[in-house]
Amino acid sequence: MSTRTVIRGGLVLTAADELNADVLVEDGKVVALAAHGSAWAQGWTADTTIDATGHYVLPGGVDAHTHMELPFGGTFASDTFETGTRAAAWGGTTTIVDFAVQSVGHSLREGLDTWHAKADGRCAVDYAFHMIMSDVDAGSLKEMDHLVDEGITSFKLFMAYPGVFYSDDGKILRAMQRAAGNGGLIMMHAENGIAIDVLVEQALAAGRTDPRHHGEVRKALLEAEATHRAVQLARVAGAPLYVVHVSAQEAVAELAAARDLGLDVFGETCPQYLFLSTDNLAEPDFEGAKYVCSTPLRPREHQAALWRGLRTNDLQVVSTDHCPFCFTGQKELGRGDFSKIPNGLPGVENRMDLLHQAVVDGHLSRRRWIEIACATPARMFGLYPRKGTIAPGSDADIVIYDPTARQTISAATHHMNVDYSAYEGTEVTGQVVTVLSRGETVIDRRRYTGRAGHGRFVPRATCQYLT
Ligand code: URP
Ligand code: ZN
Ligand code: ZN
Repeated sequence: MSTRTVIRGGLVLTAADELNADVLVEDGKVVALAAHGSAWAQGWTADTTIDATGHYVLPGGVDAHTHMELPFGGTFASDTFETGTRAAAWGGTTTIVDFAVQSVGHSLREGLDTWHAKADGRCAVDYAFHMIMSDVDAGSLKEMDHLVDEGITSFKLFMAYPGVFYSDDGKILRAMQRAAGNGGLIMMHAENGIAIDVLVEQALAAGRTDPRHHGEVRKALLEAEATHRAVQLARVAGAPLYVVHVSAQEAVAELAAARDLGLDVFGETCPQYLFLSTDNLAEPDFEGAKYVCSTPLRPREHQAALWRGLRTNDLQVVSTDHCPFCFTGQKELGRGDFSKIPNGLPGVENRMDLLHQAVVDGHLSRRRWIEIACATPARMFGLYPRKGTIAPGSDADIVIYDPTARQTISAATHHMNVDYSAYEGTEVTGQVVTVLSRGETVIDRRRYTGRAGHGRFVPRATCQYLT
């Protein structure tokens, strides 16, 4: 039996339009949009009617960079697929793209199977996977083709973390050459990890062990250098490139220069780089550990370049790099040695609200908010127009958003499985009210009505953002 929902009275925001329109949803898909009060819309009958008067009607957020249960530094990211996707729903994100991990000595297939097993039957919203390649060899290069055919169409490589995820330039070039042939998109963690490890060793030997030194050794120039090198390797291979978690203004400049040459080079930044800074890393009593991630937080001056990059489209996407570790028992592993602090910040629940605050603050237009948080991540990773927009035929992943509600972000009220908030006490304007995932209400007027297992694995097409 078919189920129909009508959302009436809201302002529908997409990357392309702002429409005073009602939305008809049937069997999990958007069927039609029609002007408020039009004879067509008035004639729609439904099982459920949602009154969105005074509210925005948004496509569900697409967070293209999460790490549920990531093993890192001898521990695991504290959100499971169940808790992390529930928190995503609370924050208006209805699709995550998480990173399956190939461990050294194992195949891509083994890594992917492990990630499917972690996620299957547990997610509140839809999910897809990228693949982290830790061991580029003849076997894993061949496997890339099979993964692309299965809808795993992007591969993350690391120029950082020697001995763990690191690939040298030869391995990177080979993976890029393979991606150039099979349509895969190479995602790059661009930091010169070999040089950083020298600086880490020197800092620790000199007794500089506090969290703030994490930011000092992971220098902006070493992010920029790696970004430049990644771009040149991608050019040689004839492959597109997506640089993840860009934080340094010098790295933005490298991306802008590449794009000025007409290259298919893309950049993602994250809320932590837009809203936090090295001031947080320097918080006393080891509190700075809460803000240890890589690339690291930068001095506040870098933020202007990131906002500008988002406006000029030198940066295309804001994802969270959600990788939470509790302060107690996890971040604390690095007391007395910042290099042992597990890297990563929570944020999957906060991204849509923080970016709405950026609209309120005048950094972004409303449509650009939807573009960088919903539409472009969907296009970049082969999910569009099923995800990332509200249009006939797209999945009914829809957020009813109150643009005037005031809220204070806090660990006391968030739903992520982590004992602190990176944005504790931050006041934002705007709040998610109701969320549909494929037509099913998962948040109903700020009450969770979803269930583990509703979220499905979504195989992805190849990048839809190439010039
Ligand atoms: O600090 C971070 N970003 N942790 C997650 C792993 C990564 O490099 O994305
Ligand atoms: Zn990374
Ligand atoms: Zn990451």
